[in-house]
Amino acid sequence: MTILVTGAAGFIGSNFVMEWFDSKDENIISLDKLTYAGNLENLSSLSKDKRHFFIKGDIGDSELISSILSEYNPRAIINFAAESHVDRSISTPENFIQTNILGTFKLLQSTLMYWKDLEKNDKKDFRFIHISTDEVYGDLKAESSKFTEENRYIPNSPYSASKASSDHLVRAWYHTYKLPVITTNCSNNYGSFQFPEKLIPLGIINAINDKQIPLYGDGLQVRDWLYVKDHCEAIRVVLENGAIGQTYNIGGNNEKTNIEVVELICKLLDDIQPRTDNVSHSRQISFVKDRQGHDRRYAIDSSKIYKELNWKPKENFDSGMKKTIKWYLENNKWVKNIINGNYKKWIDKHYS
Ligand code: NAD
Ligand code: DAU
Repeated sequence: MTILVTGAAGFIGSNFVMEWFDSKDENIISLDKLTYAGNLENLSSLSKDKRHFFIKGDIGDSELISSILSEYNPRAIINFAAESHVDRSISTPENFIQTNILGTFKLLQSTLMYWKDLEKNDKKDFRFIHISTDEVYGDLKAESSKFTEENRYIPNSPYSASKASSDHLVRAWYHTYKLPVITTNCSNNYGSFQFPEKLIPLGIINAINDKQIPLYGDGLQVRDWLYVKDHCEAIRVVLENGAIGQTYNIGGNNEKTNIEVVELICKLLDDIQPRTDNVSHSRQISFVKDRQGHDRRYAIDSSKIYKELNWKPKENFDSGMKKTIKWYLENNKWVKNIINGNYKKWIDKHYS
């Protein structure tokens, strides 16, 4: 048996693919357009694994997707492919509309054509798992309850609006055509292989390179952090036991302000890799201009997936951050290869 994973060379997709083979012996076809965020180095540990096959391609390329589906006959598709960085969606929204909305639409159509022609049992067992975000629920007040699956969609950034659109399309393909879909809405992930434009890897890398650690606005925005391997496990549980047509919120039950996050990075680095002058890395924290339309707080209520699918995150923030920092320190070559490429041009433009 085989599953198709889109966006497999990105942060969460690559962690998912690698984790999969730790617990399963089922083949994966990985598809990725290899945008600036897709990095084949993330999957290099699988280069000799016969259970894994990589194809460079776009979820919006219907001809390619149809040929992959008919050749490999996957029993499921896990759709991670997306433009994922909020700041880029503010400066260049078009790619987000193209991939997150039109790309998801094309992928749904190709999947529907494939699914309709499957044998009865294969048709019954097939799943399309759409990976989405908590940002679709909008901005939470400090005193408001966490997001449940019943919350209204109130997306505020071009990124979250494009993801909300994709979620609506996925829902409609279930409701109208009965395509067996499940959507997951997850909070902020952190861990190995995260592209260093996001807060945690950027904070670690800037801290060890004696650069400023930029905090937007007052740094008191709150995110609910989830270790990426816990997210990957939750997706496997949803694939095997989730109910068709349902959505599941996935969170870390771990709300932190951005200041708390970067201060923890600095504190852990002060122990593991102190600055040569023995001053804390926290002196590098620098308050910079706020993100436009910056949502103040996100927090996920994961009680549905806890109760119905018996999934809970295993990692706590301290242990997860220690592992993450250790990974970035040990994988300096991975970081350098990114910083020397497109990322550098982008970061120069935005942080010079
Ligand atoms: P990422 O940016 O690291 O990876 C996205 C991958 O998709 C990249 O490898 C990129 O090359 C690929 N891609 C982009 N456009 C494509 C296209 N048209 N066709 C095929 N591949 C394409 O993102 P990530 O952080 O790994 O996020 C993966 C998914 O999870 C996204 O859908 C994102 O919205 C969602 N999500 C992310 C987080 C988070 O904290 N990172 C939290 C919740 C949900
Ligand atoms: O909530 C889930 C979302 O989390 C995912 O859907 C997105 O794909 C993912 O990118 C992430 O979005 P955020 O905007 O929350 O992540 P980011 O790491 O960019 O920012 C986290 C917080 O830190 C946010 O409040 C903005 C702030 N920030 C970010 C950067 C890059 C800073 O203060 N300074 C920075 O330099």
